[in-house]
Amino acid sequence: MAESVYKIIELSGTSKTDIEGAIQSAISKASETIRNLKWFEVVETRGVIENDRIAYWQVTLKLGFNVGSDERTGKEKVPEAKEQTGKQGTVKKESQAKEGAKTGASKYRCKVCGYIYDPEKGDPSQEIKPGTPFEELPDSWKCPECGVNKEQFEKID
Ligand SMILES: [Fe+2]
Repeated sequence: MAESVYKIIELSGTSKTDIEGAIQSAISKASETIRNLKWFEVVETRGVIENDRIAYWQVTLKLGFNVGSDERTGKEKVPEAKEQTGKQGTVKKESQAKEGAKTGASKYRCKVCGYIYDPEKGDPSQEIKPGTPFEELPDSWKCPECGVNKEQFEKID
């Protein structure tokens, strides 16, 4: 019998209208990069008041998702971008790792939340183009799931 292991992350969603909307916004955002979201738990509910009115709701959630199998791959069919011709316009930092081969670049996993950086996909949420090796990410890059920096990532094959 298969046993399930869950990774748990915590994040906050906001909504101007209601608590449910705040929860849904957090879940929707997480689902962009995490597959197998299974449950949530409301940790904290807050509201911001402006001019004696509710300006927006902020709900902090714990989200659980299955880990153990790499089912993340295959969610989106992103066109392969191994063959890059010419330099793309928005490299934010002069790279010291240009000699590294573009093909066969390794994936890296966030040790905190389990997010996997796939160089073939890049990270559209931070304007990282497909085909960008992990080593060439700017130092300012953060885990799109939990916000930790590059040092919290480990190489996987
Ligand atoms: Fe993370």
